[in-house]
Amino acid sequence: MSSAQQHFPVMADEMEQYLLAPESQRPEGAYCDCTAGSGGYAHRILSRVARRTLVLIDRDRAALDRCRRRFTGFGDRVRYFHGGFSRIGDAVSGSGPLAGIVADLGLSLKQINDPGRGFSLRLDGPLDMRFDSTQASRAEDFVNRGSESELADLLYRLADEHHSRRIARAIVRARPIRNTLHLAETVSAAVPRRQRSRIHPATKTFQALRMAVNDEPGELARLLDAAPRLLAPGGRFVVVSFHSGEDRMVKHSFRSQAGTGVYRLMTRRVVRPSATEVDLNPPSRSARLRAVCRTRQEFTQ
Ligand SMILES: C[S@@+](CC[C@H](N)C(=O)[O-])C[C@H]1O[C@@H](n2cnc3c(N)ncnc32)[C@H](O)[C@@H]1O
Repeated sequence: MSSAQQHFPVMADEMEQYLLAPESQRPEGAYCDCTAGSGGYAHRILSRVARRTLVLIDRDRAALDRCRRRFTGFGDRVRYFHGGFSRIGDAVSGSGPLAGIVADLGLSLKQINDPGRGFSLRLDGPLDMRFDSTQASRAEDFVNRGSESELADLLYRLADEHHSRRIARAIVRARPIRNTLHLAETVSAAVPRRQRSRIHPATKTFQALRMAVNDEPGELARLLDAAPRLLAPGGRFVVVSFHSGEDRMVKHSFRSQAGTGVYRLMTRRVVRPSATEVDLNPPSRSARLRAVCRTRQEFTQ
């Protein structure tokens, strides 16, 4: 594997520092990693915390299968759940109150670098973008169906795309669009050269489509709602997000639950990766970590 393709778990030291309380203050209970991916975080948790159960969730069955192979040595300390983390209640049922929950949002390098998954705007592939390949709707359905204004709204709402109307018009004119490079070229041609930033002109379009295909805002909202009920007093909840919309949802939820006394904020300000980490792993540059600790306050919502 070249270093460009290697998977580095993002902000793993910081995740560990916030998720794992010092042993003397650690509540009883299992941990749950909502986004198993390549198992980078999971490996840290399993090696640092002896004897606890770790529930691993991922919507991508291939990712879970890789984790299963990687963690055979940990035996029945690891449990696997294929599905969205919005179903965390089902995933951890029977585990009792949790000592910690972590979610590292978005997608893994493994997924981006597989042209067949359709996530990359630089590799030609089908317009798929599903995390869970058993799910029915794909990016192709969002691109080729629906009105121009629905498409424009989706691009603006999910990715703050300021050229949403122009891009939606170009997509509708170019239909049917069946593969990633056709979409990337159509979007590029629609954005005036002088208004382009340093990122690829189709980056936000791809992001918005991926979020829509996988209902990422809905998944995150349901996880944020479920967490207070599942955590033990003293249990911790850490979320790493990769764009401002997701970070806003996390910040508002944490602050509002801290306002009712259900959480204590562990990160008053968002935590960003160190300059050294960004040098070593440039995709980490947009990561944002927030963490809370569950109090004893009853959760009534
Ligand atoms: C950034 S990777 C996680 C990397 C992981 N922390 C590691 O150390 O290897 C994100 C993973 O979350 C999964 N995922 C994304 N949204 C999900 C959701 N709503 N429910 C469950 N898994 C999800 C993706 O399939 C992907 O494998």
